This record gives sequence, structure tokens and C-alpha cells, in this order.
Amino acid sequence: MTANKQLLMLPGDGIGREVMAVTERVIDWYAKYRSLQFDVEHDLIGGIAFDTHGTPLTDSAIERAKQADAVLLGAVGGPQWDGLAREHKPEAGLLKIRKEMGLFANLRPAVVFPALAEASTLKTELVSGLDIMVVRELTGGIYFGEPRGIDDLGGGERKGFNTMVYTTEEVRRIARVAFDLAKKRNGRVCSVDKANVLDVSILWREEVIALHQEEYPDIELSHMYVDNAAMQLVRDPKQFDVIVTGNMFGDILSDAAAMLTGSLGMLPSASLGAEAGGRIPSLYEPVHGSAPDIAGKDMANPLATLQSFSMMLRYSFDLAEEAQLLETAIERVLESGLRTADIMQDGKARVSTSTMADAILRELDKAAD
Ligand code: NAD
Ligand code: IPM
Ligand code: MN
Repeated sequence: MTANKQLLMLPGDGIGREVMAVTERVIDWYAKYRSLQFDVEHDLIGGIAFDTHGTPLTDSAIERAKQADAVLLGAVGGPQWDGLAREHKPEAGLLKIRKEMGLFANLRPAVVFPALAEASTLKTELVSGLDIMVVRELTGGIYFGEPRGIDDLGGGERKGFNTMVYTTEEVRRIARVAFDLAKKRNGRVCSVDKANVLDVSILWREEVIALHQEEYPDIELSHMYVDNAAMQLVRDPKQFDVIVTGNMFGDILSDAAAMLTGSLGMLPSASLGAEAGGRIPSLYEPVHGSAPDIAGKDMANPLATLQSFSMMLRYSFDLAEEAQLLETAIERVLESGLRTADIMQDGKARVSTSTMADAILRELDKAAD
């Protein structure tokens, strides 16, 4: 049907490997029944890359990621690597690939499947029908700002410091992503900052307002302080359409948004860069981490990663119909009452990661008939 897509798989650590194994089964299914051929390559990232190569991300892995049409990533990290120097930690590999690929825009959609409206820890009526998009700036802010470090002040005193910094261009390009998304959704953007305290946020807000006036007057723009936004997300999440915010605030708010959908194991993400030569660098990953507490137990929810793959089909390859097939299969399996432990509810059937995968493949088979 189409020319082969070059896909780089970076399973990483812990449950990252388990949920990516499920995704590979789905990719094989698409190759077999939908003639959607991917040339799939594998590489290492995170703790396993450090154990193998002495670095959480090799230069050759970065090169392959840049060459690929899209990258799919599981998760990195684990307690066995927590004591390493910062640049050797698994998380450093993740930050590096984001930076090297220029993935400044991280889209984290929190959508509640009807079957899971009651699985949320929040009241059903607060979350049912929820569909919000968190747009997190991903290659700037306090995660990357200089100076940073830990200084020895002598006499047993030390100083740890980071710098939260944004430039006009960094704010404008992420705000533009949010405004463009809002255009295709419900036309509302809420920019989240801490402009009552932080200079960097004063600049953020001024630049968002300026861009809005210049280019997006039809979008409804509001502003919220991050502490209030955290509260509003659990008080009345449906007031939001698109939320745009900086790197650290977006990290925190998107974990909170995940719980609205029932579990962190349900939230996918797409990380996109600027178009160059007709291509948009892209990486897809679940929002959750390597979950050391359940790793190796065949308990992880693979649906965040499967949905990340379906975001890839939509965003990188413009294959909305193929993506819909997978999304429908997920919906049907949830409707049939199967639940991994994290989304378990009374009266439903608790299943393992692999049983959930079997069920998804069965639904895909039915859809293809
Ligand atoms: P985590 O997201 O790994 O886990 C938080 C909780 O959610 C755990 O109880 C876990 O069991 C549960 N959970 C997460 N994903 C799940 C899934 N798919 N199915 C069922 N339950 C799931 O966060 P953490 O415990 O704070 O961090 C663990 C490690 O992961 C750390 O090393 C951290 O740095 C790393 N991490 C990596 C990423 C990433 O790779 N993108 C994201 C977050 C954390
Ligand atoms: C995420 C994770 C990462 C982040 C860590 C593991 C570096 O929490 O993707 O949300 O903070 O961005
Ligand atoms: Mn996070």
C-alpha cells in the first residue's frame, strides 16, 4: 500500500519493555492484515543502555532516531540506577533524545473512555466525556536552564540550583502549537504559569498574549496560575480544552490529568519538533514511567503505549482510519469488561498485560473481517 515506514523502537526499562512487546504484536498485525509495513529497528535507552554501553543513550541511537520516520519509546528508569551521576541516569537519556531531536512540543491528551468513566477516582459526572489536551513545552525551561548544579560551600554547606528560563521564541512556538490545536478542537486555550511570582512566567504570559493578539484573535485565551490549575483539574476538569504550559508544570499537571482517565497507564503522548525538509521529527511514548513496583509481573497496562502508537499513525503518517481501528479495538475490550489491575473495578475481570494484548488482537481480527 504505502512505502515502508522507518520505525525505531526504544523499549527502555521496567514495564517499558513489557508494553512495547504488546505494541510490536499490534505492529505485526498491521503488517499482516492491513499491509502496513514498518521497517522496525530496535535500540537501547535508559538503564539498560547504561549497563550495556556505559551511557543512557549512545550517539548511534541518536542518529538512528533522527533518521527514523518516527520513534516509539517505552519508559526509562529504576531504583538500581538512582545513585548514578546525573548524566548517567536513565532519565538523562530521555532528556537527551528529546533535546537532540528538537521535540519541543509534547501533546498529552487526557480522554476518558466511556467504559472507564467510573474507574476514575473522581466522580463519574466530573470526568465522563472528558477530552482535554495538555501541551507541554519539552526542551526548555527549568529542565535545561543554565546555570545548574550542586556547589560545595564548605563547612558542610552545599547549594543546589537550577534555572528556569524561556525566550520569546520558545514561548511563541509552543503557544502556536496550542492555538493551532485549539482551532481544530473547541477553540479554547488556557495558558498556565506562575506569573504572580516568577519573572520567567511574566515573560511567558506577555508573549502568549502578544501572539494571540497578532495571529489567533478567534481563539479564546485564558490564563491560570499553576497552583490553581492543579486544583481546577480535579475540581472541574471539563472546563479545559487545550492547556499550554512549561516543561515542569506540564510534567506535573499531566500526571494529574492522567488520573482523570482512570490511570496513568491510559495516557499517551506525542512529542513533535519543527518541520524541516518536509518532515516533522516525532517520538511517541506513554506518559507513565518504568513502574518498578510492578515490572516483570505481567501486570502493566499497555493501553497508554498502544494509544501512543495510534497517535503515531495519525500525526506522523496521516493514517486516521488505521488509528481508528486500534482505538475501537481498545474501546471494545474495555467495554467487554477486561481490566488490568490499575483500572480494575468491581464486577470486571482482572487480566494480565498479555491477556489484555490477546484481547486487543482478537478485536482487531474482528474489525478486519
Ligand atoms: P511511574 O509512572 O513509573 O509509576 C507511578 C505509579 O503508577 C506506580 O505505582 C506504577 O505501578 C503505576 N503505573 C505506571 N504506569 C502504569 C501502567 N502502564 N500500568 C499500571 N500501573 C502503572 O512513576 P515513578 O514510580 O515515579 O517512577 C518510576 C521510574 O520511572 C523512575 O525511575 C522515573 O524517573 C521513571 N519515569 C520515567 C518516565 C518515562 O520514561 N517517560 C516517566 C515517569 C517516570
Ligand atoms: C515524563 C517523565 C520525565 C520528565 C522524566 C523521566 C525525565 O516524568 O516524561 O513525564 O520529567 O519529563
Ligand atoms: Mn512525568
